[in-house]
Amino acid sequence: MCGIMGIINKKGMAIKKVIEGLERLEYRGYDSCGIAYLTNNKIETVKTKGRVKDLKELIDTDIKSDIAIGHTRWATHGVASTINAHPHTVGDITLVHNGIIENYLELKEILISKGYQFKSTTDTEIACALIDFYYQENKDIKKAIISFMDKVKGSYAIVLLCKDIKDKIFVIKKDSPLVIGVNTDTVFVASDIPTILSECNDYYLLNDLEWASISSSEITFYSNKGEEQVKERQTFKDGNFTYSKDKYDHFMLKEIMEQQDTLSNLINYYIEDNKYLDLIDISKYKRIDIVACGSAYHAGLVGKYLFEEEANIETQVYLASEYRYKKNFLDENSLVIFISQSGETADTLACLKKIKETKAKSLGIINVENSSISIAVDEVIYTKSGSEIAVATTKAYTSQIAVLALLTLSSLAKHNKSYDIDKIINELKNIKDDVKKVLDDKDKYKSIAKKIIASKKIFFLGRSIDYAIMREGDLKLKEITYLSSECYAAGELKHGPISLIDKDTLVIAGNTNKILYEKTESNLSEVVARGANIILVTNKGKANSNTIVIPERSSFISPILEVIPLQLISYYTGVFLERDIDKPRNLAKSVTVE
Ligand code: G6P
Repeated sequence: MCGIMGIINKKGMAIKKVIEGLERLEYRGYDSCGIAYLTNNKIETVKTKGRVKDLKELIDTDIKSDIAIGHTRWATHGVASTINAHPHTVGDITLVHNGIIENYLELKEILISKGYQFKSTTDTEIACALIDFYYQENKDIKKAIISFMDKVKGSYAIVLLCKDIKDKIFVIKKDSPLVIGVNTDTVFVASDIPTILSECNDYYLLNDLEWASISSSEITFYSNKGEEQVKERQTFKDGNFTYSKDKYDHFMLKEIMEQQDTLSNLINYYIEDNKYLDLIDISKYKRIDIVACGSAYHAGLVGKYLFEEEANIETQVYLASEYRYKKNFLDENSLVIFISQSGETADTLACLKKIKETKAKSLGIINVENSSISIAVDEVIYTKSGSEIAVATTKAYTSQIAVLALLTLSSLAKHNKSYDIDKIINELKNIKDDVKKVLDDKDKYKSIAKKIIASKKIFFLGRSIDYAIMREGDLKLKEITYLSSECYAAGELKHGPISLIDKDTLVIAGNTNKILYEKTESNLSEVVARGANIILVTNKGKANSNTIVIPERSSFISPILEVIPLQLISYYTGVFLERDIDKPRNLAKSVTVE
């Protein structure tokens, strides 16, 4: 999703620094980009459809500038084009924006009646014109920003330059992420903390409906009513973010390979000194709702299985985009768990805001520290998987499952004295070796990738926890390869979709659950009888070119081992199809609009 970068740098390096920041924001997913900078007392704007490398070709990065703002745009209102790219300038105001101005059509009519004309089809240009309109009333930027916040509906993180004020940038925030970082000679404004982590140690966070005036020597914070706000300067604690691919061709492969460490570090941290026992006691609650989007939702499905089947705690899992408009039945005995890698996903965040009006307790399972969701929940557990740059999540997703497994174990240790906790702990302690084993089978994954490419139809099938994992495998394949695939609960196939199965179909199936092993086998026989070929991920029997055998482990570990081959198969399929692996078309890492 859109990324924002702004800089005040007294050494004339603002253009270079903004471009570097935009490169670090590329992982969020975008289709056009631009920059505006102050030089010779004038604001110059350069923008383009396409990548930051295309933008670099249009700019002389040696130009000295102390103030610059930049943007990567993920199209919402209007196609990806140079005209629709940010920054936008109307009158005396130039700005970049992340979010959606919901009442932009109504505002556009008013502004047209006042004589404004528009070049783009974006809601952002309307926001820009609205601020200019209020600014022209008495050339008071403070009043203009306050009037804008009063009039506009929707979400926004805005970074703004005013033609008449040559030493300041202004930032405005509601429901979209924005952070201000500081070091000795530079102030940074960005959409997320990782983007500025290599540049500074201290930062400020704006709350919703706040704005700030920033010069090289001073930052003043205001409420939407114009009252000055006192803000605490904070220091980054987690230096675990990197932007290097190391020896790998893609961030996605690097992140898949890192799972042996991310998982073992996370798990060992909690096992050491029995820290997992300090985790929130899920069995205290009469109702548990898990709310998330995308892969985080799939992790939630695994969590439901673990909570219910292992710890006997009934659990519901919801897509955030559905939960946010659904009636809830929450009270003081309810726990709502929000799972999110970025901690910024708009729908998940909106659900959190909604349940804050109830008596339910909120728990976040989040990767990015100090992200909006991690700050707003009652309690947070960090997944500690470090920076995840590839749009398609891998290591953050398996760490989410690991946290859900630790929560389950914590409850069992406290309430089910007959459970063999030591056996699970021993398995967990060995996760590094198990993960390494499944990572090592690359030649087989490559040959399966070729079979996928040769097939006309791809189906993912599984029951129960295998179904949850196959849904993630199906999503990974769609994200990275742009191939069409379907995922069904194996028992549901005969209620319709089996009509699609024929000799051109490749079925990728998971079968690791002892209780359902034979049931799934029967479903697979049904598709074989109709000519389909099968790729099986199982924990029984002998491996061959079509059968991946993962170590036989409890359901605390097994789903993690089952998904890793699917991550690698999607990866190699995408590589063979020459897809843009780390930045697949149309996708964004952090979905900050509804
Ligand atoms: C986007 C990403 C997915 C991710 C989902 C939820 O769609 O492309 O990979 O699973 O958002 O993101 P979150 O940051 O909340 O986990």
